[in-house]
Amino acid sequence: MRVLVTGGAGYVGSHTLLPLLRARHHVLVFDNFSNGSPEALRRVKQLSNADFDVCAGDIRDAQKLEQAFGEFRPDAVIHLAGLKSVGESDRRPLEYYSQNVVGSIELLKAMQRHHCRKIVFSSSATVYGEARYLPCDEEHPTLPLKPYGRTKYFIEQIIRDWSSAEAGSSAVLLRYFNPAGADASGRIGEDPIGVPANLVPYIAQVATGRLASLRIFGGDYETRDGTGERDFVHVEDLARAHVAAIDHVARSPGCEAINVGAGSGATVLEMVKAFEKASGMPIPFTIAARREGDVSRSLAAARKAESMLGWKAERDIADICETAWRWQSGNPDGYGNRK
Ligand code: WQD
Repeated sequence: MRVLVTGGAGYVGSHTLLPLLRARHHVLVFDNFSNGSPEALRRVKQLSNADFDVCAGDIRDAQKLEQAFGEFRPDAVIHLAGLKSVGESDRRPLEYYSQNVVGSIELLKAMQRHHCRKIVFSSSATVYGEARYLPCDEEHPTLPLKPYGRTKYFIEQIIRDWSSAEAGSSAVLLRYFNPAGADASGRIGEDPIGVPANLVPYIAQVATGRLASLRIFGGDYETRDGTGERDFVHVEDLARAHVAAIDHVARSPGCEAINVGAGSGATVLEMVKAFEKASGMPIPFTIAARREGDVSRSLAAARKAESMLGWKAERDIADICETAWRWQSGNPDGYGNRK
């Protein structure tokens, strides 16, 4: 198929390109490079030994989208472009609504103009909010706690409404749990701008010595060891889930929300220990106050992904830590020149 990938130069995007290209899909990356890197795309081309087109543009730019859709004529879209810092979304909600929600509407309008009716959307388990029961299945109530999560929730609703109105349309809303790790090659990985907000890239930078010590947000949660528990899903597994979802939208109409998680959890402390083991480096930490807006536990019921997409996580937290370390130790400054 001809697949347009918004946000293809980002962390999840660059990893998704690899199995997509290996499955011989034709790809156009559409990215404004606000948080993605041209160097990541160069490395993806090397690793896959495949070529693809790149269009530098913002999804709110209707003219740029028109040009990309007109020239590339996609059969389907994988929509990953968006702002993704939960804390920042609290401080700059309008930017988040504009980039994520308005941008998604412009994208759907371009799809409609060009009779492209298949979309895989990068949503988030954060749409569930504080869990009422665990593991969270797709029927769990949605009550996101922060503007970032609300943008994902609103886009899900918009895609549902578009899909009901558009005959022959097909959408998969992938609700990611906690993506982490890097491609086994160690050549591409997560390269946050500034100090990482997420756990694994933060630990990785402590391991290389770029950051002095980890602050663990909260030691008094009702978990095995008092620290928060998350369902970490290896980014290579997550990448495969997108390809399975593309196969699904190609053959089945409708709109489905599907969890993408490992179905098992690790606490923050367990992650620290796993990273120390994988890297052989000490990870100094202190226990600090809880971070506002954090839930205590997040855990996926991943049965729907298995029955509907034939997808299941294959890698565990040891693989996550090993690959994150390979990436971080081999590329201590990430892709370079971005900070
Ligand atoms: C994990 C755990 C922290 C940093 C968010 C979004 C989600 C997805 C991934 C995608 C928590 C603790 C973290 C640190 C810490 N976003 N922690 N010290 O908050 O579960 O999920 O990111 O684009 O949609 O909600 O992920 O990695 O920030 O935190 O103790 O320096 O690690 O408190 O328990 P989170 P995270």
